[in-house]
Amino acid sequence: MTIDEIKSSFDAQITKCGNLTELQELKVTYLGKSGELTVLLKSIKDLPAEERPAFGAKVNELRKQMEDRIASKTEELKKAVLERRLREERVDVSRTSCPSRGALHPITLIENQICDLMVAMGFEVLSGPEIETDYYNFQALNIPYDHPARDMQDTFYITESILLRTQTSAMQVRIMEQRKPPLKIVCPGKVFRSDNDASHSPVFHQIEGLVVDKNVTLCDLKGTLEYIASHLFGPQTKVRFRPSYFPFTEPSVEVDLTCSNCGGKGCALCKETGWIELLGAGMVNPVVLENCGIDSKRYTGYAFGIGVERAAMIKFGIPDIRLFYENDQRFLKQFGK
Ligand code: DAH
Repeated sequence: MTIDEIKSSFDAQITKCGNLTELQELKVTYLGKSGELTVLLKSIKDLPAEERPAFGAKVNELRKQMEDRIASKTEELKKAVLERRLREERVDVSRTSCPSRGALHPITLIENQICDLMVAMGFEVLSGPEIETDYYNFQALNIPYDHPARDMQDTFYITESILLRTQTSAMQVRIMEQRKPPLKIVCPGKVFRSDNDASHSPVFHQIEGLVVDKNVTLCDLKGTLEYIASHLFGPQTKVRFRPSYFPFTEPSVEVDLTCSNCGGKGCALCKETGWIELLGAGMVNPVVLENCGIDSKRYTGYAFGIGVERAAMIKFGIPDIRLFYENDQRFLKQFGK
């Protein structure tokens, strides 16, 4: 190639060059050890001596031009790379959106609220096993194998003597075995029953309360429940005891509250009665105290079991228990703000 040919082919190629790698290759092709211009310069020896200085000067001038072009093209390409990165990796530091915050599940909210109220009254919060023995869940609570009350609680058995606890009442026995009165405890936790419909779930939550001391009476139970009811559902809430039956309490009561929807006048929620059932309770059956080694002549006690889902359904007006377990954000977002 002649000097002019090299110049024009270099010009054409450097204009098309799109990145630094291509540019480096171009530099080698023209200016490298065996590049076009180097080869041309070597041919100087074939020229007559008088033409050599002028030829040499021309080639060197071209080399200088090419080096300048390559240097400015390098700057141009580096700038383009930087600009693209700045564009692509742009961070808008003025954006104020932050990740959405989680909230407590309504069951956890109510459970915490009730436990806080109990703690304020001097109760201690304890928890126990969900996999329980037949002895703690039934027998020690005065429910022997053949007792008809077992039918009320459709039980998940693991073996003949081990089961998923159907009631937190099992904790009453565990604690009374371990400790001496006076006792003032509350045990929240999951319980399990083979049930599934709009008002029953195979797993749900209870809070067990137990007080054992000298001279404990049904009045103490009522006062405690009135305190919880008024703080949880509002100061106007009234508490009513209805006679009932549980093998582990004597006497036993079912506890109703004035309906939070109509305030006691009667509506669809309370089936026109003005009252809504919240929990079971009673005076600890002396048989149960004796089963746990507590002298039932010296000590009496009261116990109650609150259904947490039931309390949440009443408080928030939730019609179907299954809503608690479906993890539907539209439902869950309404609580715990
Ligand atoms: N364990 C009972 C149930 O699950 C509820 C209950 C009733 C608990 C009376 C008590 C009680 O402590 O005294 O149906």
